[in-house]
Amino acid sequence: MSLLRIYPVNSADSYTEMSDFDEIRAYLWKKGVLFERWQAGAQLAKTATPEEVLAAYRPSIEKLKAERGFRTEDVVAIHAGLPNHAEMRQKFLNEHTHTDDEARFFVDGSGLFYINTGAEIIALLCTKGDLVNVPAGTKHWFDMGAEPFFQCVRVFTDPAGWVGHFTGSTITSQYPLRDEYPAFAG
Ligand SMILES: [Fe+2]
Repeated sequence: MSLLRIYPVNSADSYTEMSDFDEIRAYLWKKGVLFERWQAGAQLAKTATPEEVLAAYRPSIEKLKAERGFRTEDVVAIHAGLPNHAEMRQKFLNEHTHTDDEARFFVDGSGLFYINTGAEIIALLCTKGDLVNVPAGTKHWFDMGAEPFFQCVRVFTDPAGWVGHFTGSTITSQYPLRDEYPAFAG
């Protein structure tokens, strides 16, 4: 189940919450953010290789690439067993932009995107089956949580375009972290 909270910029005292997929998708679309739910074309084992993951979602991946001009894709798995997960978490907790779109499909697990539109902070908890495309130049940050668990397909126009350009803003510290959101991941 996905979850969206909309906060006024510079205040986490109040928010509007949505959990209905169609409602979330429609709201994000108005903000220029693509949000979809993908179905696997084949049953995937927990131990599936990156090649098997990509094969299972191939039609959706190719459709997204054709529509948005993406050229390459890979699979990344982050979990609390990785020695550098705390540093990885900390890096993307800082507000940043990219020159490329940030397209992420959650094969499993969850992660929390925060999108700064200038007027509001949109916090989007993505879970298994969710595809989000944060447009190039959009201020955002991401919290994977203290005990991260997710497997994502990443789609790139140019992998170099995914380098983070950090804004130096401290706005991120005003908003609840991933672990203050529901733990669900399915
Ligand atoms: Fe990013």
